Amino acid sequence: MEKKIAVVGSGAREHALAAALLRSKEKSRILLFPGNDGMEGVVRGEPLPGDPRLAARILESSGANLVVVGPEKPLMDGLVDALLERGIPVVGPTAGAARIEGSKTFAKGLMERSGIATASWQKVSTREEAEQALKRWGLPLVFKADGLAQGKGVSVVTTEGEWEEALRRYLDRKEIPGGEIVLLERGLSGPEVSFIVATDGKRFVPFPTARDFKRIGEGDKGPNTGGMGALTPVPGWTERDQSRAREIVERCLWGLAREGTPFSGFLYAGLMMTEDGPSVLEFNARMGDPEAQVLFETLGESALPLMEEIAAKDLKDHWTIEATPRVGVVLASAGYPEKPVTGDPVEGLPSPETPIPDGALYFAGVEKKNGALCSSGGRVLTAVGRGATLASAREAAYRIVKGVRLKGGQVRSDIALKESESLPGLSDSRKED
Ligand code: AMP
Ligand code: GLY
Repeated sequence: MEKKIAVVGSGAREHALAAALLRSKEKSRILLFPGNDGMEGVVRGEPLPGDPRLAARILESSGANLVVVGPEKPLMDGLVDALLERGIPVVGPTAGAARIEGSKTFAKGLMERSGIATASWQKVSTREEAEQALKRWGLPLVFKADGLAQGKGVSVVTTEGEWEEALRRYLDRKEIPGGEIVLLERGLSGPEVSFIVATDGKRFVPFPTARDFKRIGEGDKGPNTGGMGALTPVPGWTERDQSRAREIVERCLWGLAREGTPFSGFLYAGLMMTEDGPSVLEFNARMGDPEAQVLFETLGESALPLMEEIAAKDLKDHWTIEATPRVGVVLASAGYPEKPVTGDPVEGLPSPETPIPDGALYFAGVEKKNGALCSSGGRVLTAVGRGATLASAREAAYRIVKGVRLKGGQVRSDIALKESESLPGLSDSRKED
């Protein structure tokens, strides 16, 4: 009987996962809850209700043999717990384990208890406490909301003006989403790497390293976004970096299991490669977006068996995911991230019958109106380019995205620019202790 795999989510991350599952040798039917109008070859389900028990019932009645949960919100709300209660195999952590993303104070505590390097921090609820931290550590300091904030919870403060502004926004006005509790953390510096593994709770297999480009503007300027592009693999990544990153993941998984909330699914360590080695900026309880758009491509035809082994808590020894150069460039609406303008036609798209030879388009904020695909959200799509090198993958990604027309559409022109110019092995001037 044909297998049915349900994917929960509606973004380009879920589109890339659906495409990877469709590439598998074993044919299966892919159901998207709810997906978006840019996705071809999949069956669309209804948007799921927020109540995890109701959502689990809908997923069960769809006949899905396996569910993969993409975004963080349903994970924190306990969708995986509700599916497990019904005996439905699922890829994703329980709500208890997802606290590693949902609460920064929980994550920081776990890192301390587990010996994982991370920036010094303290909770602050008053200006006085913040001033004490400033005296102790000096600038730069980083304000973080404890809870989920859709990428809007973090402010890196480097000047006195920014400090005053942050005190007002985080402490006086309490206007940051997820910011009932506020953390202040020492600013670190160094290149950032997304180190993501697929895990059944005991074993794990790392994806190749990735980098995302969070800011809206060229040269990493301007406000943070959901992500304007991504690349894999990160040049200059050494064997030593790999073994240190693996150790961080091992400690995190071991710590969560020891504390009674074993983690399975995708564990994402956001690392800063400081002079003293990798330090964890954050853990996410899911695959990254836009990292997914480049990383799921590296699975070739293996996405389905990998998901099945994770859901069965039976990840085998045979897995290695080879690094394969990919660059993803996001097309965002005019006005994104503050006030995205939506409802404009997305034109110049290749027809589904003629696939792009050296890349793919993964859709996010789009909907069909009178048969035409129109923008319906901030990030509209990710163009992914494939190549033998980062430079050629980058070229392909830009060629693909330039073919797409959207009024006022925003594309950063410097995604993977520096990285594709650096020669592997020569870019790493960090100290090796
Ligand atoms: P987070 O959501 O915690 O990963 O933070 C978002 C972004 O803020 C990160 O990707 C970093 O660029 C920056 N950031 C977070 N924590 C720090 C830190 N301790 N020092 C410097 N930059 C940071
Ligand atoms: N790319 C960062 C994230 O998914 O949180």
